[in-house]
Amino acid sequence: MNIAVSPSHQQRGIGTRLLETVIDKMQESGAKGLEVGTGTFGYQLTFYQRQGFRVDCIDKGFFLKNYPEPIFENGVQHKDMLRLTLEFSGDTSCQRTV
Ligand SMILES: CC(C)(COP(=O)(O)OP(=O)(O)OC[C@H]1O[C@@H](n2cnc3c(N)ncnc32)[C@H](O)[C@@H]1OP(=O)(O)O)[C@@H](O)C(=O)NCCC(=O)NCCS
Repeated sequence: MNIAVSPSHQQRGIGTRLLETVIDKMQESGAKGLEVGTGTFGYQLTFYQRQGFRVDCIDKGFFLKNYPEPIFENGVQHKDMLRLTLEFSGDTSCQRTV
């Protein structure tokens, strides 16, 4: 799944509330942790790291292989995906390193 807030409503705390809600609900459900994927640079990385997510591994070439159009941010093309995990308990090591 993707998380997104309408551009006209971004940077008002809505995304943080959405993410906190998912974290709370998953923790209550007994999950061991959460895994997310995002680009290797950009504000989205900070968005997840603020909630405690830590870099686990790199899925090299993910955006090249899985998106029909190139994705550019700040003039740089997204090619690789960073996998980040938030561990509630136990081992949630990423298995997707290429
Ligand atoms: C990522 C996203 C869901 C965050 O939602 P949001 O409602 O804007 O998030 P918040 O208002 O809670 O912002 C939290 C922090 O994210 C960062 N941030 C969010 N949008 C930003 C932007 N456009 N530029 C720079 N930093 C930004 C800021 O650090 C912000 O904290 P601050 O307001 O104290 O500076 C939203 O920006 C979005 O839909 N982006 C496009 C889709 C996307 O990239 N999804 C994630 C794919 S991995």
